[in-house]
Amino acid sequence: MLNTQDNEMLCRVSASTPMGEFLRRFWTPILLSSELPEPDCDPVEVRLFGEDLVAFRDTGGNVGLLTAFCPHRRAPLFYGRNEEHGIRCVYHGWKFDVHGHCVEMPTEPAESSFQDKVRARSYPIQEWGSVIWAYLGPPDKKPELPHLEWGFVADRQRNIVKYNQECNFVQALEGDIDSTHAPFLHGALAGAPDLPVLERLRMARQAGADTSIYQRAAERDFYAAEVPPRWNLAYTDYGVAGANARTAGPGSQYWRVNLFLLPFYTYFPASPIDTRGHTHMWIPEDDEHTRVWCIMWAPHEDLTPEERDSVLGTSRPHIGTLDPATGRLRATKANHFLIDRKLQRTTSYSGIMGIREQDTAVVEGMGAIADRTQEHLGTSDALIIAMRRSLLNNAKALVRGREPKAATHGGVYRVRAWAGVLPEDVNIFEGADPVGKMTAKIPAGAQPPAGR
Ligand code: FES
Ligand SMILES: [Fe+2]
Repeated sequence: MLNTQDNEMLCRVSASTPMGEFLRRFWTPILLSSELPEPDCDPVEVRLFGEDLVAFRDTGGNVGLLTAFCPHRRAPLFYGRNEEHGIRCVYHGWKFDVHGHCVEMPTEPAESSFQDKVRARSYPIQEWGSVIWAYLGPPDKKPELPHLEWGFVADRQRNIVKYNQECNFVQALEGDIDSTHAPFLHGALAGAPDLPVLERLRMARQAGADTSIYQRAAERDFYAAEVPPRWNLAYTDYGVAGANARTAGPGSQYWRVNLFLLPFYTYFPASPIDTRGHTHMWIPEDDEHTRVWCIMWAPHEDLTPEERDSVLGTSRPHIGTLDPATGRLRATKANHFLIDRKLQRTTSYSGIMGIREQDTAVVEGMGAIADRTQEHLGTSDALIIAMRRSLLNNAKALVRGREPKAATHGGVYRVRAWAGVLPEDVNIFEGADPVGKMTAKIPAGAQPPAGR
């Protein structure tokens, strides 16, 4: 549990709050590049850390991110005309470039210098990995982009899907590093076919991969076989690594390593033979709303159509009810996430369709900001406790004047989640080889752009 003060500090993201200032020290993903597909295309509304913003791509292809309201009399710039290297407010025609300079002020006399004194607040932008990143922190503290592996691969090796959750970003991301909930919330009932394992076995066969691990898993799903797992934690430069071990037959252990990367990324391993990377980015729109980015990538080859389909498609989709038009789930708290009580009695532990819908049902159900003074945390919550401590300690350190190392050392993000079976006398944090498996294989010279 947390006391009220720490819970407030953990969750409040607006400017001048400790966490809000900490989050603003990092480059933050705001849009897919494809959401501003061409010069002078339609502007897009963005809400980030409690701020209303508008993004647009100008005639030269540069992206601008301005405060949403015109500095003249606060009309929304979203309705603006995006034309000739700037966005023009439709109320009185004032025009602003991507840096927020007022470049035309048709309502003032030509000889007036008022135009030079007015600026729309603008924020720096980067484009990398098919994503538009923004920096909302102090200009003299501009950070480095995080060297996240998915940013280095080609578009065809990467799949990105987004949706919204109606709750605070911390409780939303807690579900991703909670390695004990999966056999329950995402599980099948005893006697029902274990769809995840069987499905992965089928995919492994199709890919010509070694299926022995799945045949063993199909016989005895060690993911569910031992609850609770034994946790090992490490505080790192990027955040926290949490490794948990379960018995996986005589003389061996099944390890899963989940990562929390500051300030809002989670990495999780899918399975021991999965060669794909998986991450979620939990971007706070404000204290009570989170934009969730789901990214799958293949480090060395293109993703197959079936893999892309597995996110939103029809065969046991990762997200079951996403409405592409709104970016929101059709399963909501208001309709009880379309829970099917018959399915819950016969086949599915939760009765809710879609992995993300299952997670969303439980975290949104806690309320927009969970009251952590009422919790009773056990040993299985070790990584969640560590993640909160990491965030809080970093936010408090910044209040005391210590800047976060991760923000300016993008190289610390060259890591991976990992899952595998090891001899029972091997501890993943004590042997060079298993830890080596957690290092992303990014070409040594590869760097994200340095920024403008
Ligand atoms: S409110 Fe934008 S030009 Fe007047
Ligand atoms: Fe989950």
